[in-house]
Amino acid sequence: MAARLLKIAAFYFVIAIILGIVMGITKAFSYSSVHAHLNLVGWVSLAIIGLIYIAFPAAAQTKLATWHFWLHNIGLPVMQGSLFLMLLTQVEGFVVGTIIGSLILGVGILLFAINLWQQVKP
Ligand code: HEM
Ligand code: HEM
Repeated sequence: MAARLLKIAAFYFVIAIILGIVMGITKAFSYSSVHAHLNLVGWVSLAIIGLIYIAFPAAAQTKLATWHFWLHNIGLPVMQGSLFLMLLTQVEGFVVGTIIGSLILGVGILLFAINLWQQVKP
């Protein structure tokens, strides 16, 4: 689980950095929220979670960890992909995907927090 998370985090890092560079070159700053969330919720958060699972291996073995893994990695691309498409096409309807993705991600993060409260012991 930890190794998978770290590899996926590195993938988000690459995508977010490419977007940041393209944004800088083309002055397309309206995409900064997509860039920020791919970096912080994709790269930074998933890398930290991967390292937490190395420090507390029991936390990586639970059903809650598996649920969080899938909800995070479905919710984030749906949320930011829809936001990206909305900004690109100016079609407001894509906001539905952003809302659904953020709710999926939010539930995933809640399950992650419950998992840590249960599994991380001094
Ligand atoms: C080659 C690397 C990067 C480039 C070229 C880049 C480029 C940019 C650009 C052009 C903006 C928009 C600035 C604006 O709207 O005024 C931005 C915003 C932002 N970037 Fe990056 N970025 C890079 C790396 C990172 C990394 C590694 C992170 C976090 C781990 C990050 C986090 C953010 C955040 C949070 C914002 C939004 C800031 C705000 O709303 O004021 N960026 N970046
Ligand atoms: C379901 C989860 C989340 C939702 C729905 C959400 C939603 C939002 C919204 C609506 C904005 C304002 C965007 C704008 O002004 O264009 C924003 C900005 C921001 N969020 Fe989030 N957020 C979430 C999670 C996070 C997390 C976990 C982090 C950090 C680890 C984060 C970091 C930021 C930053 C740095 C900004 C300002 C950068 C920018 O958009 O220009 N967000 N978020």
